[in-house]
Amino acid sequence: MKIIFLGAPGAGKGTQAEIVAGRLGIPTVSTGAMIRSALRSGTELGKKAQAFMEAGALVPDDVVIGIIKERLAEKDCQNGFILDGFPRTVAQAEALDAMGVAIDRAVSIEVPDRAIMERMTGRRVCPSCSASYHVTFHPTADGIHCDKCGAELTMRADDKPDVVLSRLEVYHSTTEPIKAFYEGKGTLICVDGVGTVEEISARTLSALGVC
Ligand code: AP5
Repeated sequence: MKIIFLGAPGAGKGTQAEIVAGRLGIPTVSTGAMIRSALRSGTELGKKAQAFMEAGALVPDDVVIGIIKERLAEKDCQNGFILDGFPRTVAQAEALDAMGVAIDRAVSIEVPDRAIMERMTGRRVCPSCSASYHVTFHPTADGIHCDKCGAELTMRADDKPDVVLSRLEVYHSTTEPIKAFYEGKGTLICVDGVGTVEEISARTLSALGVC
């Protein structure tokens, strides 16, 4: 299956993508994670993307389309994948079509803006293994260190309240119109993203026809 996860920043795309990918035995491809990794390694891509990311703006289409093209050509993507955070503009969706990638389902996780701020400002991430937690909804055992590797958790620079507001604006103006693009192809599924992680993954798996 080739699946796209759409939704506002903090809607739970990454959380749900990991669960569904585990059930289907396919990889998750997250442009946000790839860009953050490039930033940490100080590559040219990371340097180009840093200012956009920290301001809550989108990284230019040509940069992101280039990294997705390379990633989808890798062997582990040949039997399917979940795209988390791509496409984010109509131009990116058209580029995916032009690559000959036929998407089976575009899953939009619907969460109202008022719930997003609480999710994002409470998110904590592991700088070492990239695991993601939440101070209230998904805390670690001691609230300070990663349960998986023991590193001290940090907050993402783009999870500060003013940057979250910018990211929400960008989502509504630029990314949300993609829903109409996939609706026109008959592949859009909207899932209610309010509830526990388990409730939302049950809804998502059911909508995808995975028991
Ligand atoms: P990216 O990393 O993709 O960020 P995002 O889309 O803004 O999404 P997030 O990762 O912040 O949230 P999510 O929906 O995955 O939610 P999560 O599961 O983590 O992109 C970052 C930046 O990179 C962009 O702003 C842009 O600059 C650049 N970029 C990336 N892709 C690009 C592209 N294609 N084109 C251009 N630029 C691009 O959950 C969030 C929190 O909520 C967590 O703490 C989690 O524990 C908690 N949570 C999850 N589910 C629930 C629940 N049901 N109840 C309570 N809490 C929950």
